[in-house]
Amino acid sequence: MFKSILAVVLFSIIFPISFISAQQNNAAGRCMTCHKEVSPGLYMQWENSGHAKHRVTCIDCHKAQSDDKDAFEHYNATIATLVTPKDCGNCHPNETEEVSNSYHANAGMILESNDAYLAHVGGGEPVAIMGCEGCHGTRVKIDSNSPNKLSPKSWPNSGIGRINPDGSKGSCNACHTRHVFDKAQARQPESCSKCHLGPDHPQKEVYEESKHGNTYYTNIVKMNLDSDKWVVGEDYYIAPTCATCHMSATPGQKMSHDVGRRISWTLRPIISVHKDNWQVKRNNMKDVCTNCHGQEFVDGHYYQFDAVVRLYNDKFMKSMIEIMEIIKKLDLLEHKAAFSNEIEWVYWELWHHEGRRARHGAAMMGPDYTWWHGIYEVIKHFYLEYIPLAREYDNPEVNAYIDKMLKEDPMHKWVNQDTEKLRDAIRSGKLQDIYGKYFERR
Ligand code: HEC
Ligand code: HEC
Ligand code: HEC
Ligand code: HEC
Ligand code: HEC
Ligand code: HEC
Ligand code: HEC
Ligand code: HEC
Repeated sequence: MFKSILAVVLFSIIFPISFISAQQNNAAGRCMTCHKEVSPGLYMQWENSGHAKHRVTCIDCHKAQSDDKDAFEHYNATIATLVTPKDCGNCHPNETEEVSNSYHANAGMILESNDAYLAHVGGGEPVAIMGCEGCHGTRVKIDSNSPNKLSPKSWPNSGIGRINPDGSKGSCNACHTRHVFDKAQARQPESCSKCHLGPDHPQKEVYEESKHGNTYYTNIVKMNLDSDKWVVGEDYYIAPTCATCHMSATPGQKMSHDVGRRISWTLRPIISVHKDNWQVKRNNMKDVCTNCHGQEFVDGHYYQFDAVVRLYNDKFMKSMIEIMEIIKKLDLLEHKAAFSNEIEWVYWELWHHEGRRARHGAAMMGPDYTWWHGIYEVIKHFYLEYIPLAREYDNPEVNAYIDKMLKEDPMHKWVNQDTEKLRDAIRSGKLQDIYGKYFERR
């Protein structure tokens, strides 16, 4: 007995490094031993993770330097609650670099936007925190009452563009649910659908109605989601998920955490325009599609989709914007502050909700969103709400614009025409003279 203790002491003197690492292991071990009791569910999430298998323990992620803004002493260890992209980046540098170059990492910069104004002024701070910032991310604050602990005004929060105290942006667990951090989970559409849904960006609903979504949900077991590598056309073939089209690898393209690499249009703003290098980005996406479809089929999809986007831009948005410009120039709005007039809400919803739904439906093969939740609503609210509200000002300049539009603009003058003649025009293909130009290849 005495001999063996002596041996350990001697051993430690001779090999101090192993002694130190044993101490560290102890600190690490203590986290698990105690948290197994105090938070058993959390412990089990970790215990069954790939990280646990590779001996990545609590302290590897939560350790902090004492001068970190959010570091605190916790049972003889210096830790932080936040595990930011910078922390994950110690072991996953490539993923972290891609995330920080993506649009996602900048999603917290909307705190000054028009929507944020609406949330703060029309609503109030509590709803901006639990609403907008829940998806976009908050600027994490430290609590002034309890040193170095996170302020409850900004924690919990796992918004995609969270602005962290260490200067990094984003939160990896927005998609990689802790503490399992399972690739198979992140590959499924649900990992995007906390944020990508609802009246103004219904990607989840569009996917669910599309043939892609139908095929996925009726064949999940055949998706090979647990595979270590997940290359479309090699490891699975049944259907694409959000990750397949926007992130995952193809035989010729590496997987990327920069979700903007395959997007050619901006479908968010009031008028859609092409992104920088849009042809390259479009070809990146087509490279995904052609693993399961022929080239002509894929080109055909873009031909139809482009036409919807241009129709939306030209037919509705151009006139809608011009009318609002006249109203504002003439100072006709009754109330001063933005969003205090009904017409501003109709204007806003026309592009920010209805027009976006149409564009997203067309991009991702959702016919119901393209038409019933999309352009159908745009038509109804443009002609039957926006125009009448504009006419209520009874202003000659506004009325003259609208009268001219409804009499002369080939896309709008149907309003004052005979129904039977319009039906004939559809049957004889005459309307194609007006709308055919949207199918020109550009
Ligand atoms: C002896 C038990 C014990 C040990 C050892 C322990 N913890 Fe904890 N930990 C707790 C308890 C209890 C809480 C909840 C305390 C509270 O109410 O905030 C907690 C909270 C936390 C929190 C959340 C803190 C917050 O402000 O929300 C983190 C992160 C954490 N522990 C990580 C660790 C890590 C990493 C280790 C190992 C270095 C560790 N814990 C060791 C008991 C322990
Ligand atoms: C792979 C890295 C990683 C490992 C390993 C890890 N955590 Fe975490 N932990 C995180 C992340 C990420 C968060 C969320 C913080 C954020 O949003 O920045 C978190 C949050 C927490 C929280 C606060 C959130 C909550 O739900 O209460 C506690 C407590 C916690 N971890 C404890 C532990 C304990 C105990 C272990 C070991 C059993 C552990 N963690 C292992 C990454 C890790
Ligand atoms: C101390 C190093 C270390 C840290 C810190 C770390 N990881 Fe890991 N991570 C690993 C290792 C090792 C593996 C397993 C080997 C592999 O698959 O690359 C892994 C695997 C993963 C996987 C794949 C798991 C699977 O399904 O196979 C994900 C996702 C992941 N990590 C995300 C994160 C995130 C997010 C963070 C920060 C919250 C993080 N990791 C922090 C080392 C680390
Ligand atoms: C359910 C999650 C969610 C909520 C809540 C939310 N957003 Fe968003 N927001 C998104 C997503 C997802 C996008 C991207 C949509 C797209 O690409 O089609 C977005 C886009 C935006 C954009 C456009 C950014 C750009 O670069 O064009 C702004 C601005 C914005 N949101 C601000 C806000 C504000 C302010 C609030 C609160 C009033 C809010 N959002 C609430 C998820 C959300
Ligand atoms: C928008 C959602 C999303 C965010 C945010 C995200 N990931 Fe991922 N991540 C994924 C998806 C999806 C996969 C699986 C892709 C595949 O295998 O095709 C993945 C895979 C991984 C893997 C496994 C890579 C491999 O080669 O096996 C690691 C490691 C990882 N992510 C780390 C991170 C880190 C670190 C962050 C934060 C800096 C992060 N992720 C943020 C969605 C995300
Ligand atoms: C926590 C919320 C959240 C999650 C989860 C999330 N996103 Fe996003 N995503 C956003 C927000 C917010 C934006 C808009 C950012 C902005 O405009 O500033 C966005 C933008 C995007 C864009 C547009 C990028 C660009 O460059 O135009 C794509 C594509 C995207 N997300 C795909 C995904 C996919 C795929 C997943 C799941 C694997 C996912 N997102 C998960 C919130 C999220
Ligand atoms: C079959 C492939 C495919 C699938 C599956 C898919 N998308 Fe897309 N997505 C696209 C295409 C194509 C576009 C338009 C690209 C362009 O502009 O060139 C797009 C556009 C987007 C945009 C940009 C919208 C904007 O406002 O600019 C977001 C965000 C997005 N998708 C998120 C998602 C999410 C989340 C899912 C899953 C619920 C998903 N996508 C599923 C192919 C896909
Ligand atoms: C993993 C395979 C896979 C990938 C990748 C894929 N698709 Fe599909 N796609 C399918 C399957 C399966 C169907 C359903 C075929 C059927 O209707 O019989 C389908 C159907 C379609 C349809 C027909 C929709 C309808 O309602 O009839 C279009 C259009 C389409 N895909 C376009 C695309 C585009 C564009 C891309 C790339 C952005 C893409 N697909 C990527 C598998 C895929």
